[in-house]
Amino acid sequence: MKVIIVSVFTALISFSGISQQKNHSLIRSGEVWPDTEGKHINAHGGGILLHKGTYYWFGESRLPRTEKDKTGYGVGCYSSKDLLTWKNEGLALRVINDTTSLLQPGCVIERPKVIYNKKTRKFVMWFHHELKGQGYRAAMTGIAVSDNITGPYKYLRSLRPNAKVWPVNFTEEQKNATLNESDLKGRPAERIKAVKEGLYVRRDFAGGQMARDMTLFTDRDGKAYHIHSSEENMTLHFSELTDDYLDFTGRYYRVLPGESNEAPAIFFTGGKYYMFSSGTTGWKPNPARLSVSDRITGEWKSLGNPCRGTEEENRITFGSQSTFVLPLRQKKNIFIYMGDRWTPENLADSRHIWLPVEREGDVPVIRWYSSWNLEKLK
Ligand code: GAL
Repeated sequence: MKVIIVSVFTALISFSGISQQKNHSLIRSGEVWPDTEGKHINAHGGGILLHKGTYYWFGESRLPRTEKDKTGYGVGCYSSKDLLTWKNEGLALRVINDTTSLLQPGCVIERPKVIYNKKTRKFVMWFHHELKGQGYRAAMTGIAVSDNITGPYKYLRSLRPNAKVWPVNFTEEQKNATLNESDLKGRPAERIKAVKEGLYVRRDFAGGQMARDMTLFTDRDGKAYHIHSSEENMTLHFSELTDDYLDFTGRYYRVLPGESNEAPAIFFTGGKYYMFSSGTTGWKPNPARLSVSDRITGEWKSLGNPCRGTEEENRITFGSQSTFVLPLRQKKNIFIYMGDRWTPENLADSRHIWLPVEREGDVPVIRWYSSWNLEKLK
């Protein structure tokens, strides 16, 4: 009897040993993803930066629903060598407990991204910033900077981009048009047409353009772009950053005007720029969109929905909204789609959806895998 118990026990241990080993390199989208301390990774709407052989994952560090202290949130940072085991490096940027600061507790920090500036040797963070007590009305972008990748990042300022400058691809006719919101009779088609023709660009000319969902993209020539949902989330703006990445140059391009894109995630492969984005349904997932362009500044063309699942899966992007595309092996065209499955009632518990970017001919597509082996990509 004893012998049998022992051997069953040994078998169980070795079975779990084997399965642990096997599971080690598995990405399990939609499940709790524990960090090295066993806590679900709190880095949502985020992105990843590879630096000196280590990956750094930055994202929204959300207060857990039950948390009493409302001052300990901001941008979370995690580090990893293998993209599976993540160590919590703490808050790279945290709200400032001072009522004179725009970054005071109660403000909203979303979709933070960090890029490295080779010239200044600084890490530059930008994030969507909404002000305390103002819902999503401020539509600003915030900037922070650090000498160390994990921070702490110094908060510089928040602003509305590109005040008093017209987009590069804006016509004289659009600049001089006089139609404004009060002229619209409420028909959606009429509003979309007016937005395409620059209604909100003109409205926000003096104070700066709206900036909500955002990402950063560093092009091959070292130029960086801040890409944000503007014009009441109906048009994307691709805004060029200064050489130090700390400001806008004033050169910006309207992309897919009137088409209501959020959650932009850009990657470059096979000589072309691609963008995953979503529609505008708040925390609820909607069908993803894929667009392509020969140049980062456009013209961008829609390629439709990149999801290759059931009708229901395609309608909700496998229950996710894009946030970033990780160039894992850029030269071999190997990329990972990163998205969020939001839990609005407890955002800290939102789940990470990571899927390999596959190809259909030249076109990047995504399929659902409840678990998949990272080794498959290497
Ligand atoms: C989504 C957006 C999220 C968040 C949310 C708020 O559309 O992508 O980042 O802003 O709306 O409702």
